[in-house]
Amino acid sequence: MRQATVYIDSQALQYNFNRVKQLAPNSKIVSMVKSNAYGHGVEACLAALDATDAFGVACLEEALEIRRLGYNQPITLIEGVFSEDEMSHVLEQKLECIVHHTQQVEWLIRHKAAYNALGLKVWVKLNSGMNRLGFKLAEIIEVIQRLKTEGFTCVLTMHFANADVDHPLNDQQIEQFLQVKQACAPILASCCNSAAIYKYPELQFDFVRPGIMLYGASPFADKNVHDLDLKPVMTFTAEIIALNQIHSGECVGYGSSYAATCPSTIAIVSIGYGDGYPRAYTRQNFVAIGQQLVPVVGRVSMDMMAIDVTNVTAELGTQVELWGQRRLVDDVATANGTIGYELLCRLSKRPLRKMI
Ligand SMILES: Cc1ncc(COP(=O)(O)O)c(C=O)c1O
Repeated sequence: MRQATVYIDSQALQYNFNRVKQLAPNSKIVSMVKSNAYGHGVEACLAALDATDAFGVACLEEALEIRRLGYNQPITLIEGVFSEDEMSHVLEQKLECIVHHTQQVEWLIRHKAAYNALGLKVWVKLNSGMNRLGFKLAEIIEVIQRLKTEGFTCVLTMHFANADVDHPLNDQQIEQFLQVKQACAPILASCCNSAAIYKYPELQFDFVRPGIMLYGASPFADKNVHDLDLKPVMTFTAEIIALNQIHSGECVGYGSSYAATCPSTIAIVSIGYGDGYPRAYTRQNFVAIGQQLVPVVGRVSMDMMAIDVTNVTAELGTQVELWGQRRLVDDVATANGTIGYELLCRLSKRPLRKMI
């Protein structure tokens, strides 16, 4: 059987969850489990996150899956409903909506009696400068006042565009958020994702919304998970299925983009871009064998890739870590011009999944 396996470490997930609790002891935790729990498999992760106060998802379908699996915590739809007909599911399954445009406000108000009777909060999104979703500063106060008048319990919310770095927009976003919070007081508030939980403890307010840190990857380019005292939850492995001796000058793989500069031992590993490993030959990709980092050579194929094991003990069946404890997903991402989030989320269904 092809041994390409994604191990999910539920204890690491719980460890990271407890780190959020330590860092934000006075806030409720909305664990972000959208996009199949950042590619980790929502079913496996929900069990480990059972102590969370709430879950955050991107759409109704993701929320329904959580309910189908038997979890009753509050769930926030972070983009709200996409059409009014979703309101029946919202009420039936007790889901909390974000509102980021006027139509959503109207849909909600049309169902206010049932929504409020269920004790659901409405999350009102401020567009403080990210310019993705939300009401602008000039309009949001009126929206919140209207919702309050209609009997809704509101949570003022926003999302940072640059919480992972020092950027002038951060100050603008914070200033606008605080201005609205003050104008609409008393109001519940939530603005911290993982990076902001670390960076702005004074802004943790009523709810924090950790995503990437739960999964043991770093939101910061200049700090790795060890610096942040987090544990990688996912370990992605495969096995060596062939070994080739090649001469200096011989090429490996599609496009012959790698040519050996000395007699080399090349191992073929049963993993490829069809599993979610990045395809490009960047010359900066490494995998771990035991404690050693071993270079990926040539372009990654759909189902296989080549590594240079000339200086390593390797045989058929040797296990290779693509990312995990020893080769951090964030380092693989950096080598491929992306972020750990993307690599985790775009893993395909093909690798086996195992809880450890
Ligand atoms: C609205 C919102 N809150 C929180 C998060 C979690 O962010 P992170 O994974 O950086 O912690 C996201 C993720 O994209 C988001 O869209």
